[in-house]
This record gives sequence, structure tokens and C-alpha cells, in this order.
Amino acid sequence: MNKANLYKHSNGLQRRDAKQTIEEFSHVLQWRSDGRDSLLDIGCGSGDVTIDFLLPILPPNYQRLVGVDLSQEMVTFARQQYPYSRISFDKFDLGLDIEKQQFRSAEPFDHITSFYCLHWVQNQERAIQNMYKLLKPDGDMLLVFLAQNPIFEIYKQMSQSKKWAKYMTDVDHFISPYQYSKNPADQFGKLLYANGFTEYSVEIREKFFVFEGIELLKKSVKAVNPFIERIPTHDQDAFFDDYLNLVIKMHLALDDIHTNSNACRFLTPYKLMIAYARK
Ligand SMILES: C[S@@+](CC[C@H](N)C(=O)[O-])C[C@H]1O[C@@H](n2cnc3c(N)ncnc32)[C@H](O)[C@@H]1O
Repeated sequence: MNKANLYKHSNGLQRRDAKQTIEEFSHVLQWRSDGRDSLLDIGCGSGDVTIDFLLPILPPNYQRLVGVDLSQEMVTFARQQYPYSRISFDKFDLGLDIEKQQFRSAEPFDHITSFYCLHWVQNQERAIQNMYKLLKPDGDMLLVFLAQNPIFEIYKQMSQSKKWAKYMTDVDHFISPYQYSKNPADQFGKLLYANGFTEYSVEIREKFFVFEGIELLKKSVKAVNPFIERIPTHDQDAFFDDYLNLVIKMHLALDDIHTNSNACRFLTPYKLMIAYARK
């Protein structure tokens, strides 16, 4: 439960991007004339983005809002936090064949959203095929995820170090499939088209976020870093220190860390993929 709780309290960057994108795209989603919309949020994590930003844009008589996530811990946490009627949370892996999973929705959805999840799914084609199956005819989706981010480069470099290599043998599973792509929007658009979505728009936004102080950076790294739980507790601080050294080496520390580490600001420049598609 700790990780879900930690995530909920250190996801400022993800919340900012979800909020901005939902504000911008909520009018683009094709709302039903009877207001009985259903919406599936994939990779809902601790559920706060689903509840704080998606629930308010649904019509008052919406039919249902479902959040799904690969992590049982996240699903259990979200269920406990938000026990509301017409809202449910379930376990589902977007990267696996939908027919082989317990999550089977009786009815497909009018809308799918997904924030900060698709870069974790290596099998992008399967993910798109699953979403196609989960949408009603004329259903639409809004997807927001990382195309490129220096954290993936940090993972790669740490996985090559003698000390951490044994915990990071599967590092490539945790690097965005578009990290080294020359044209991520074009690549993703072609995948959408090849898998049945004829109406779509894909764009890349160059963004940045500043973590104010080392503690905030540490919390955020711990909340999303897939390797840290594999490392013995007594070594986790050393892992973070090595992570930090790479951040500094990449010139992402905006102040001198030795003067006042608590006040040091850390820059994260990244490319966000925003895709809207209609079945
Ligand atoms: C960074 S969190 C984003 C949570 C939330 N959408 C937000 O914007 O704050 C990414 C979530 O995606 C989930 N996830 C990763 N791979 C997934 C997959 N293949 N299928 C479903 N969920 C997945 C993770 O468990 C995690 O909770």
C-alpha cells in the first residue's frame, strides 16, 4: 500500500499534465446526446487523477466510470479511497491479450483515457488492439504518455553499472518504446491506423517540470522507479545517490547541490505524446 500512497503524494508532474490535457481535450471527446456515457481510465494508479479530473467532466447521469491498473496494490488502494456507486476499479494488463484476463467488461465503453501509462507497455500493438476491442463503435480515446524522458537514459546507464546491473537485467521493459525514435508521433499514428483507427491526431509536446528540493525529487523517483523495490532497504539510499549523480552529470540540477541540497531545483525536460483517436 505504501507505494500507492507515496504515488498519490508525489505525482505533481503527472497531475499537472493530466489536468491540462483534460481541460484542453474534454470538448473534443464525442459525448453522447443522452448523457449516459461510460469511461474507462487505463493505468489509473492510485485513482486520484480519475476522480479529481475525469469524474468532473462526465455528464451528471453518466453510466459508469471504471479505472484499471496492472498493479493489484493500486487497484485495492483506489477501491478503498473511492468507494462510490457507478465507479469501480479492476486489475487489467493492457499489454496482455484481453481474452486471457479476468477483467472482461460486459459492455464496451464510449471513451477510453490513459495518462502516463502507455510508455510502460512494450507491446504497443497489443495495447492498441485491446483498446480498440474495449471501445464501442464510434467510441473515442485520449492517451497521454511519455515519448522521451531523461529518466529512461538514467535507467539505462545505471543498469550498466556493476553494483546495480543485477537488479536491472530487464531494464529495456521500462524504457519508453519511443525513447530513441526519430519521429514518435508518426510511429504511433501509423500503429493506430494499422490497427483500425482511421480518425486520429497525434502530437508531441516538449515540456519540463522543476522538482523543488532533493526530497521532492527523491519521493517522486521512489514512487515511479520500478527497480527500487528489488534493492535491499539498506542499499536504497546508495541507489538514489547514484541516480542523483547522473542527474547532476546530465546538467539537470539548476543550483549547486553542495550549497543547499534542500533548496536545489532539478529540471526534467521531456516529450509528451498526446493522441486522440476515434473508432
Ligand atoms: C505513473 S502511473 C499513472 C497513474 C495515473 N494515471 C496518473 O496519471 O497519475 C502509471 C500506472 O500505470 C500502470 N501500468 C503500467 N503498465 C500497465 C499495463 N500494462 N496495464 C495497465 N496498467 C499499467 C502502473 O501500475 C501505474 O499505476
